[in-house]
Parts: sequence; C-alpha cells; structure tokens
Amino acid sequence: MKKTILVILFVLISVISKSQELKSPNNSFTLRFELKKTVPTYKLDLGKKIIIKSSKLGFDLVNDESLLDGFEVEKVDRSTFDETWQPVLGEEKEIRNYYNEMAITLSQASTGRVMLIRFRLFNDGLGFRYEFPEQKNLSYFVIKEEHTEFAMNGDHKAFWIPGDYGTQEYNYNTSKLSEIRAIQAKESFVNISQKMFSPTGVQTALMMKTDDGYYINIHEAALLEYSTMSLDFDDKKMVFVSHLTPDAQGNKGYMQAPRSTPWRTVIASKNAGEILMSRITLNLNDSCSYDDVSWIKPVKYIGVWWEMITGKSTWSYTDDLNGIQLGSTDYSKVNPSPRHGATNEHVKDYIDFAAENGFDAVLVEGWNEGWEDWYGKSKDYVFDFVTAYPDFDVKALNAYAESKGVKLMMHHETSGSVRNYERHLDAAYQFMVDNGYNSLKSGYVGRILPRGERHYGQWMVNHYLYAVKKAAEYKILINAHEAVRPTGLCRTYPNLIGNESARGTEFEAMGGNTVDHTTILPFTRLIGGPMDYTPGIFEMDITKLNPDNHSHVQSTLARQLALYVTMYSPLQMAADVIENYKRFPDAFQFIKDVALDWDATKVLEAEPGDYITYARKEKGSEKWFIGSTNDENERISKIYFDFLNPKQKYIATIYYDKKDAHYIDNPQAYEIRKFKVTSKSKLKQFVAAGGGYAISIIPAK
Ligand code: NOJ
Ligand code: CA
Repeated sequence: MKKTILVILFVLISVISKSQELKSPNNSFTLRFELKKTVPTYKLDLGKKIIIKSSKLGFDLVNDESLLDGFEVEKVDRSTFDETWQPVLGEEKEIRNYYNEMAITLSQASTGRVMLIRFRLFNDGLGFRYEFPEQKNLSYFVIKEEHTEFAMNGDHKAFWIPGDYGTQEYNYNTSKLSEIRAIQAKESFVNISQKMFSPTGVQTALMMKTDDGYYINIHEAALLEYSTMSLDFDDKKMVFVSHLTPDAQGNKGYMQAPRSTPWRTVIASKNAGEILMSRITLNLNDSCSYDDVSWIKPVKYIGVWWEMITGKSTWSYTDDLNGIQLGSTDYSKVNPSPRHGATNEHVKDYIDFAAENGFDAVLVEGWNEGWEDWYGKSKDYVFDFVTAYPDFDVKALNAYAESKGVKLMMHHETSGSVRNYERHLDAAYQFMVDNGYNSLKSGYVGRILPRGERHYGQWMVNHYLYAVKKAAEYKILINAHEAVRPTGLCRTYPNLIGNESARGTEFEAMGGNTVDHTTILPFTRLIGGPMDYTPGIFEMDITKLNPDNHSHVQSTLARQLALYVTMYSPLQMAADVIENYKRFPDAFQFIKDVALDWDATKVLEAEPGDYITYARKEKGSEKWFIGSTNDENERISKIYFDFLNPKQKYIATIYYDKKDAHYIDNPQAYEIRKFKVTSKSKLKQFVAAGGGYAISIIPAK
C-alpha cells in the first residue's frame, strides 16, 4: 500500500505542470506562464489588476519549422537574486537588483529542439527573454519574425511614435490605442520616414496609462546582436505583437546557439514616478565589462553647433563646391565661405568661454573635409575623419584648449556610410588620442550604406556596439546620434555616455517640438538610458540668428534650465551661442552650477504629457538640484523638501517663470529668488504654459 502511494506521488511530481506561477519579491506582481495546448503563453497581474492578458510567445524561422507550438515543459528552475551595485555614472549611487526568477525549458517533440524562456519578476515589473541553448537540432537559424505578444486589458491612453526603421526623431502622439490607425493615416509621417512597417506600428519604449490610473511601459533591455523590436498593434484584438527590424533581405536576425534574445520589459505602477524610478532596464544588463573606469567622467560642454542647426553658419568650408570627392579636392585653392563655423578664431572664442565658465569641453562640428558632398554622388566615402579643413588647425587648437584646461570634443558624422566608417575607425580614434581628444559625438544621418540595412537592424545594432567597445580601447567616451534607442547598455559599457535616438532640441530650430515633449521623453526614450537632448536655449526667436529661419523654441527660458535636471544625462550641453549666454548671465549661472552625476534621485511630481518634477542630490556633495518641466497649460507645482537632511539648513536659489511668462509670447520672463529651506519646507510655485523652474540648493554655512 505504502509503495503504491509513493509511486503515485513520484508520477505526480515528475509530470511538470503546464502552468507555473511566479511572484515578485514583495508579492505585488504575479506572472503566470502557461502552455495552452502546446503554445507558450504568459500573463501579468499587479495586485488584482491585469496588466498583460494572456499573450503568446514564439518565433517564425526562415526555412525551418516554427517555434510557435508543439511544446512540452521539460524543466522549471526557480531562483531569487538580490544584489546592490554602483553605476559608474548614474541617477543614484547604488542600484538594487532584486528579483525572483523562473526559467522554463520547453522541448518541441516533433523537432527535438529546445527553447528556454527566462522570466525575472521585480517589484516594479517584468523582464523575460528567450534562450536557445547549445543543441544538435538548432544551431544556425534565421528569424523570420518574433511573435511576442503584449495583450492589452483596455483601450489605454498611449504616448507613441510611429514604427519606423530609420528614425525616432518624432513628436509624440497622445491617443487611445484604438486611435493609432486613424492618426497614422492622417499624419504624413512618410515625410520623415524611411520605412513605415505598418499602419498601427509603434516604437518602444511605449508609455501607456489605463482608465483606472495604472501606468504601463513596454520596452526592451540589453539589445545585443539582435534586431530592435517595435510593436505592431492588432486593434481588433487589442494586442501588441513584436515586429523586428528587417535587413536588406527582409530577415530579422541571424542566430547561432547558444544565444539569447534581448529582454522584453513591462514596467507597471499606480504611481507615474515609479515608472521613472524603475531601474529594470539597467538591471537586466550585465555588470560593467571594463576593469578600469577611472577615465569615464561626466562632460558639460558647449559647441560650435547651434549656429549651424539654425542656419546662421555652415558645416561646409566653401559654398563653391558641389559633388567633391574626398582626397581629390585641394581645399586650399577654393574660396572659404564667410559662414563657415569651425574656424580657428571662432573655436578659440568658444574655448575661452568654456574655460571662463567651467565647461569641460567644446564640440566642433564641420571641422573636417567632406561636408560639401553630404548628399552627393561620392557619398560612399565622404568623410575620412582625420582630414581637417584649412581653417581648422587641429594641433594648435587642441594645444590652446589644453592650455586653458578644456578639451575639444570630436565630431564624426558618418553620413550613414557605415562600412566606410568601420574602415576608418582605428585611424580616427588614434587621431583623437594623438591630438588630445577624449570624447566623441558621432552621427548616422541618412540612409545606411550598405544599402538596405536599417538604423535599427541587427547589422547596425552590432555596429554601434562595435564602435563603443573599440572606443574603450582608446579610452574614448561616445555620444552617438541617430543610433538605435538605448536599452541600458551603458551599465555594461559606461563609455556610452550619451545618445540622441529621439527628437532633440535641434528640432526647435526646424519647426519646433510639441510643448509637452519633455514631459514624455523621460517616460519613453530615457527608460533606456541618458539622452543628449542639448538644452539651454535662451533665445527662442530663431530669426535673431538666421532671419530666414522662422522656428520658435517651444519653451520658456526657465524651463530650459529645468531640463538639465529632468533629462538625465552625465553628458550635458549648453547648446545656445555665447552671445545669448552673455545676455542672461544670472540664468546662465544655473547651467554652470548644475551637477551631472548623482547620489540620489526623487520624483516629486509626474504625469506623462503634463509635467515632471525631479530632485537630485549631487554625487559626493550635499547639494541638491530640482527641475520641473511643464506642458502647454500653466499650473501650480506643489513640492515638499522632505528629502533634505533634517539636520541641515540650506539656501535655495530658484529660477522661475514670471506670472506673465508664456512659451510663445514671453519666454524670457523669468525671475531668480533666494530663500532658506529645511526638510520641513514646502513650495507652491507657478509654472507658465511651456514653462518650468529650476532650483539649486546648497547647505548654509
Ligand atoms: C544630426 C545630429 O543630431 C546633429 O546634432 C548634428 O549636428 C547633425 N546631424 C550633423 O551631423
Ligand atoms: Ca539627430
């Protein structure tokens, strides 16, 4: 009798249940994996609220049986992980990486192939990825499409930009999920698109809010050797399905086991600030891969840049050339344009100004041969990244900068010609080292060469990281523009100090950004990592720099200061021209003072699309900085200073919109006021339409 019971028990245990549950460490989230018939699915709840309804997982392969069904659960491994780590540069000194994990090994009887799905459930959300262990029947394979679903439990409000393989530089749309199709049909996104994949496709990080006030964010982490994921919305079923960026042949990913996909992330909370405070994206990346990080430092910079973006000056040396070929043009024999920006004299003015005001670096664009042929026929080899124009003396200018304690920042515009860039990369980095540069802004404007590759495809994803890792060998910091959206890789490769990968301040000189843009970006683009937003524009009327450019910066001056706190980045530019800073030296003081690297971060107020107020404590000091950014509706911000040290008294300096300030009519109406604060203080602050405020808080002596 006893024996029979034992045998029955054994049989029961050895048949692994098709349904497995995982709880977050604090029990708030529940993840349920289930094989429905033979199809893997998952479902995510936060308390009693369904965040993701039952959603399928799997792949279609090229010339291979799919990995969509026919599965059995072979093994379930569970574990808990808890560590605290220190980012090299970051929003806080320490980050806790705490989760419960469940790894489900699935076997496909008909093919003998094995696929594993690893779930990590944190107190703020979920990460999961597919893994393909080394095995006989699955070694090389090509992904036709990943079919990861995110089934929505309602017609949420969403903050989205259209699915596009080549640019992220869009204003955000705020709409119901069910309205995505109609909005995409109406807007002529095609004007800036390189390829729209679907009438309902959107990019991640996708931010949403449910009718009952839950915030949900979907993105990916650790995008490595894989194509970027966008989401295609099935608006009948209300289900998002992953859509990977194809290569020139339409394939989505070349794999060789053992391999895993990036993590798919779902962050959720009833509190919008907790979405901003989530560190899931960083936590799902590997720890720092460099032993020596002493050379990785924050950078505050100015640059010969805004004048080109506004059209006041040019990147090109001459107006006379068209269709030049690199190496075959003797620039010393052509007429220089009076509008060329990167001249020795002009750059020296910038170096002087940087030195006087404590900046680390001066970016200079348009310093090298080739800009005349940007869209010309020799595009395959426009730039070699080492040949300066005749009026830019690399050695002399670097020596001058060094004598003033400032660095020049290198600029490499690849013009999308990536094979050309890779051919020149070693020489280009060596040139930087030889001449005293330690930071680089790179850029990928235009269609990618070789033809057919996309900015977010696997081939380019590999390239961006190749450029970052190689730069580390030369101790160079990278700030890549037009590169793939970040997915937390700066944890592993902290010399990836910045990225653009979204619509930055440059568009304020190209028609303008929507007024609420900076209240959305921290919930979307910045979920993946720091952004080189290039704030600090003090003159909103662009005709003052270029009478032909009628753009108007959609912000008050006070808000431009706030962005140094709200748009996290250890690399920050003061983007305006020197003359404009000289006109407002009292406001400029905040840009000089504000820190770039932090011990602690607090979200004081947040509502995507409406406003965000952050407080951050400077790394290794007792100083705090506050920034608040607002949409087009004026408001009263109410904040408490209870994050301050209760034993300390402080002096606060606030830079704020005057009552009659307005981003269109009266953007430069700001005031500055000093007052005492303690941890018991509170503040009610008026914020103008398109406005904001910034506060620096220093301990009183
Ligand atoms: C686009 C970048 O975002 C911008 O900052 C840069 O000046 C231009 N490309 C030229 O490289
Ligand atoms: Ca750009």
